[in-house]
Amino acid sequence: MEWKEWFSKRAVGAINLLRGRGKIFDDAREKIEALIRFKEANNIDLVINTGDYTALGLESELKEARLLVDPLMHPSENFITVPGNHDIYVDEVKSHSFFFEQFRSVLYSDMPEYCRGGHWPLIRLAGPHVGVIALNSARPNPWPWMSSGSIPQEQLDVLDEILADDRLRGRFIFIITHYAPLLADGTSDTRLHGIINAERFLDKCRLIQSGAILCGHVHQTYHVPANGLNCDIYCAGSAVTEGNEGFWVYEVEEAGVKAKRIRWNKAERLFIVEP
Ligand SMILES: [Fe+2]
Repeated sequence: MEWKEWFSKRAVGAINLLRGRGKIFDDAREKIEALIRFKEANNIDLVINTGDYTALGLESELKEARLLVDPLMHPSENFITVPGNHDIYVDEVKSHSFFFEQFRSVLYSDMPEYCRGGHWPLIRLAGPHVGVIALNSARPNPWPWMSSGSIPQEQLDVLDEILADDRLRGRFIFIITHYAPLLADGTSDTRLHGIINAERFLDKCRLIQSGAILCGHVHQTYHVPANGLNCDIYCAGSAVTEGNEGFWVYEVEEAGVKAKRIRWNKAERLFIVEP
């Protein structure tokens, strides 16, 4: 495919699902089906999901969630994901293996030599001009008042080498993780809810020449610049939370990225680009 043709397409959709939490998620199935139709109608090349498919990370929930998003997962090179804290909520070892079992077909890396501490980071070379680096920041929180996360140091340590790799040189970099390094107002999240090593993570992102940081966890679709970085932060929000549905679509161009916020049109029962 010619690069101009590739750039003319809507490149990436970032979504964040969360199901099973009672009334505010009641229409989840309908919204995910609408999201799948949106993806097909808009020729989305690559889908990025920043986690929280489930409420409790139960095997049954993960199976159901995977079946729901299955139409987005083909071909496997066009879907990349990280788990959210809710997806490994019950027990780190068991839940990570439940998550891995359900999403095995898309949890692979084009540069596996950089995987540290298990499967992460995952790296994808998407078409000739985009690279995606997926860092796993989710961890179980045994106490109900805590839902914080952390990117393991070994994943941060290898980021310098990854970003210096010739295969990523000149590509627009999407760096994805579940937790939001900054909230919508540019402040840090709390230690009980946020990513505890956000500053170290953002410091590593200084090496990115052109890119975007994509996250989830916060149920609000927002964009916030990050001081001194060539990559703004985009939080997917939640695709299914009643009254707060949203996600982003990115068009990668020679000059950078054009991001469009997507909203749920309740009357028409479909997702639309925000005017
Ligand atoms: Fe989360």
